[in-house]
Amino acid sequence: METKRVIIKDAAYPRDEELMEAAQVLRGGGLVAFPTETVYGLGGNGLDEDAAEKIYRAKGRPSDNPLILHIAAMEELEPLVEDIPEGARRLAARFWPGPLTMIFPKSKIVPYGTTGGLDTVAVRMPADPTARRLIALAGVPVAAPSANTSGRPSPTTADHVWQDMEGKIDLLVDGGPVGIGLESTIVDVSGPVPAILRPGAITREMVEEVLGTVEVDPAVAGPMAEGTAPKAPGMKYKHYAPKGELTLVRLKEETVRELRRPGSTLYVQVQSALAAFGMSLGRPFAQLDLESFYMARKVDEAARQMEQTGASVGVICTDETMAVYKTCLKRSIGKRAQADTVAHNLYGVLREMDDLGVQYIYSESFAQDHLGFAVMNRLDKAAGHRILAV
Ligand code: TXA
Ligand code: MG
Repeated sequence: METKRVIIKDAAYPRDEELMEAAQVLRGGGLVAFPTETVYGLGGNGLDEDAAEKIYRAKGRPSDNPLILHIAAMEELEPLVEDIPEGARRLAARFWPGPLTMIFPKSKIVPYGTTGGLDTVAVRMPADPTARRLIALAGVPVAAPSANTSGRPSPTTADHVWQDMEGKIDLLVDGGPVGIGLESTIVDVSGPVPAILRPGAITREMVEEVLGTVEVDPAVAGPMAEGTAPKAPGMKYKHYAPKGELTLVRLKEETVRELRRPGSTLYVQVQSALAAFGMSLGRPFAQLDLESFYMARKVDEAARQMEQTGASVGVICTDETMAVYKTCLKRSIGKRAQADTVAHNLYGVLREMDDLGVQYIYSESFAQDHLGFAVMNRLDKAAGHRILAV
C-alpha cells in the first residue's frame, strides 16, 4: 500500500481542505495517522470492527489490547457509554479537551473488536486542533492507539510515524512535532473508586484536586507479581522499549539521606569532587546540586565500564549534567529543572539510540512527583524494570 503524506502548513490552524481527504479515508474504513498533543495516533473508524482489525495488523499489536476512542465534542460521549459518573463529568469539565482518557462502561454501539472484548471503553477528547478538526470532519469516533509498531517507543514526530507505518496505512497527517510527548493519563471511572491506570500530563495531583482522592493501579508502580493483571491491558506488555538494553540509575534512599546531611562522609566527598570538577572546567559552570552530580558520575562510571568490554554504549543525561560525562555517546533528554522538557524528548531520544545501533543505554532518573511520575513510569518500562541503585 502506498502511504500518502499530507503536510499541515500551520498545525495550530489546520484548514478543512487539508484534512478533507483524511476524514474521507476514516469514514471509508481506512487508516490515518495524525498528531495529537500527546503522541501521534493511528486512527480508524471506532465503530467499525474491520477498521480495528486493520489497526492491530498495522501495529503488529495483540488484539486483546483495547483502543481509545477519540471524540471532538462532549455530546459525542453519550452514545458510546452506558453511564457518565459524576466524577467523570467533573474531570471532563476540567481537563477536556486535553491529555486525559477515561474508562466507561461501554454502550452497545461500541464493538468488542475495538475494546479487546471488554465491557468498558476508553474515551478521550484531544486538544490538538488538527486532531479535533479531523475527528469532527470524519463524523465518527476515531479509534487510535499510538502510531508506533507495537513494542517501539511512541511516535512524537511525523518522521517517527513514517519509520514505523510507511506502506501500512493509507495516510499520514503531518502536523510537526507533538507538544507533550507522553501518552494521555488514563483514569478508570467505571468502578466505585476512580483509579489511574496510566500516568500522564494530567498528574495525580491534578486529578486529586478534582476528585479528592484517586487510586493508582499497582501496575503503574512497578513490575506486576506473577499471575496478577493490570487493569489497562496495554500496561502488561513490555512497552516503549528501545532495541538496546536500558538501565535506569537511581539513588538509594540512604544515599539521598547522606547527601542531604552536611558533614556526612559522602557529603564532604561529593562536595569536594564537585568543587574540583568546577575548577577543572576552567569556564563558568552552573553549579549542580550534589544529588544530580553524584548520579551523573555513577551513570558515567557504569557506562564507561561497559564501554571497556567493546560494546557500543549510550548515556541519557540532561542539560545540567551533560558536562560531567566522559562517555563517548551522550544525549540530553532535557532540563532536570523542567520535567516537561524531559517528557517532550524522551521517546525521541530512545529512538535515536536505536538508530545509532547502541547496545547498552544508561539513563539518569528523575523526581517522581507531578509530571516526573509519568516520565519515570515510561523510563522504568523501557528499562524492563532494570534498575541500578547507587
Ligand atoms: O495519548 C494517548 O492516549 C494516545 C493518543 C493517540 O491519543 N493513544 C494511546 O493509545 O496511547 P494506546 O493504544 O497506545 O494506549 C491505550 C492504553 C492501553 O494501555 C490500553 O490497554 C488502555 O489504554 N485501554 C484502552 N481501553 C481500555 C479499557 N477499556 N480498559 C482499560 N484499559 C484500556
Ligand atoms: Mg501505545
